[in-house]
Amino acid sequence: MTFGSPRRHFRLTDSTNARARELAEAGAPGGTVVTADEQIAGRGRQGRGWTAPPGGALLYSAILRPLDERHLLLPLAVPIAVCEAAEELQPGIECRIKWPNDVWLDSRKLAGVLIEAKPQDGWAVIGVGLNLTIEREEFPPELRETAISLAAAHLAGRGSLDGPGALEAASRALDSSLERWVDAAEKDILAAWRQRDALRGREIAWEGGSGVADGVDGRGRLVVVSSAGERLLLGAGEVHLNL
Ligand code: BTN
Repeated sequence: MTFGSPRRHFRLTDSTNARARELAEAGAPGGTVVTADEQIAGRGRQGRGWTAPPGGALLYSAILRPLDERHLLLPLAVPIAVCEAAEELQPGIECRIKWPNDVWLDSRKLAGVLIEAKPQDGWAVIGVGLNLTIEREEFPPELRETAISLAAAHLAGRGSLDGPGALEAASRALDSSLERWVDAAEKDILAAWRQRDALRGREIAWEGGSGVADGVDGRGRLVVVSSAGERLLLGAGEVHLNL
């Protein structure tokens, strides 16, 4: 599947996912991409919000259609694509993935993924927020220690992240990497995801308990070994590192 054609860019909108969902409901083709400089009601996972200063992040929502049984591992495929796009935009960095689909750089959150699917109608909206040029002080105080942007990686300099074409370049990089990953074979998705697994071997906690993360199974569930030695599978929800 090709992403980025057609493309709609908003200077300001409530949520690019909301705009893309409307377009999908109205019959827009697979590959349609919605981006924005700024969102006033950005949506995050688990009912949370998502904020970014105007122009500081790639705010991107793509329609995947048709959505079918080839896409069972979509929640794992998308963060791999985001990692590859980020590494192309800021050469020298290495991104990791915190289950299920947060993208981390230097143990901080660089990007988030929110997939909203309507399988009965055969489509999904792939929402990505990728922090590009946000400086530490621009993040809300509660996120300053846990969030990061590509520009803050202080490696090869800001390079192509600055200037009027930056959002466009980031959007194109994500179009291409999504093209490589959304229809990829499950074995390739699992292998790439496991190479970037930020939690494997780490002590984690979730609402129902704690244990050591031991990768993902073939359906993308997180495998955890409890303190009693029991192997558990987590299918949804949020896990935290026990520091
Ligand atoms: C998360 O909670 O980590 C997921 C955040 C996803 C945010 C992106 S920004 C572009 C798109 N539009 C939204 O309203 N949300 C997603």
